[in-house]
Amino acid sequence: MKKSRVKNQPPISSKVEPFSTAAPVKSWQARIGKAADPLAEKFVESLSFDYRLAEQDIRGSLAHAEMLRAVGLIYISDLAAIREGLNGILNDIQAGRFRFDKRQEDIHMALEAELIQRVGDPGRKLHTARSRNDQVALDIRLWCVAAIDTMEQRLFDLQNALIALARQDGEVVMPAYTHLQRAQPILFGHELLAYVEMLQRDRERLADCRKRTNISPLGSGAVAGSTLAIDRLQVARQLGMKGITANSIDAVSDRDFVVEFVFALSMMAMHLSRWAEQWILYSSIEFDFLRIADQFTTGSSMMPQKRNPDMLELIRGRTGGVYGHLVALLTMLKGQPLAYNRDMQEDKRSLFAAFDAVDLSLQIAVPIVQTAVINKISIARRLDEGFLDATALAEYLVRKGVPFRTAHQIVGAMVAQCEKLGLKKLTDLPLNEMRKLAPEISAEVLDVLGADHVVAAYQSSGAGGRKQLSAQLRRWSDRHS
Ligand code: ARG
Repeated sequence: MKKSRVKNQPPISSKVEPFSTAAPVKSWQARIGKAADPLAEKFVESLSFDYRLAEQDIRGSLAHAEMLRAVGLIYISDLAAIREGLNGILNDIQAGRFRFDKRQEDIHMALEAELIQRVGDPGRKLHTARSRNDQVALDIRLWCVAAIDTMEQRLFDLQNALIALARQDGEVVMPAYTHLQRAQPILFGHELLAYVEMLQRDRERLADCRKRTNISPLGSGAVAGSTLAIDRLQVARQLGMKGITANSIDAVSDRDFVVEFVFALSMMAMHLSRWAEQWILYSSIEFDFLRIADQFTTGSSMMPQKRNPDMLELIRGRTGGVYGHLVALLTMLKGQPLAYNRDMQEDKRSLFAAFDAVDLSLQIAVPIVQTAVINKISIARRLDEGFLDATALAEYLVRKGVPFRTAHQIVGAMVAQCEKLGLKKLTDLPLNEMRKLAPEISAEVLDVLGADHVVAAYQSSGAGGRKQLSAQLRRWSDRHS
């Protein structure tokens, strides 16, 4: 006799089922009895925000159903019906014609109820060896993996925009600041590439977080797994996940990957905010280093002349909210006993909100960079202010054998003398005056002084000069080609 391919088939008739005629709205209603209080329903529901997991929920369910069939827990005809039903629902969602049943508590129940309505009994088998606890954990993991990939692409795009600007106008000499006081001369490209470095670390952080996220918790059930012989690895493989969680308790109560991702988003928001702040300053009349394109500024309702960098301000302003979501997540988790508790439903509010904020900020940052104009003339006009070459002069004395501390004092005295005499730059100080303070100095010092000379003279790797900028640009074009 041909062996049935269906092993483990549960002893229930597929025809007569206790709930098939008067189907309750909610799957757990048989136990609770009374219909819920409307306020309680409103209080407990998450469909209004977790509908965003619909695609992941369906993908997870399809993989789960394939597995149930492979291990013989459902018939091939059940699988066919489930496939058809879920794919139909997915199509309707993607086409924007799916109406979510607001009476359902969450996306998992809404989709399951819809499936049962569309295909009947096979739909009632889908939840075999599964709980919403492992289901939601899977859905969020799948959602986070896709979100990480989106963020990775956006970071890459922003890096490209910054690199392109550095390639185009990177040679402009400008002051670098410490304590917001003029410090040493650098090339504009060097500063732009500083942001590219930050974004690179953000990408690495995401890649690392992705490794711990792309693991399947499905099959952990409510908390302790299942007595049915399911194949968790098959589900993971089908979903393109790199493995399965090892402990069912941890699997349903772990939201570390959400915290990690929102931390990565917080770091990205912080980087974007620092950049935004920098460019807000640079676009002021006081600095006048660059001009933000008209379409990324707004006017004032009262002052006719205004061009405000509102987009940059909102990038900065929304950063606090992202940090807030990180703290909300950590706090939501810290008091929970093992394993799943409903507190965890709130993770999605924070996750989605943090993601949306950073996602939009990254998107708008790209055209802001692409359309910004560096005010070369204005930067050059005031480049002589602030004694940017003072450190280079001290280092010149070091090359003449003067100990650095002594050289530092000598140049400090020269700067003080310039200020006393009302001279704006060190080259304005007559050579004989300089030699009074440091006899080692000769006429060739004029090749050392001035911001242009300094940026050509930087020796150390990673410095703000010409050689180093070309090296950095070469490195980035290798990575970004
Ligand atoms: N909506 C819930 C959440 O987002 C799904 C899991 C509910 N599980 C439960 N046993 N009540 O966390």
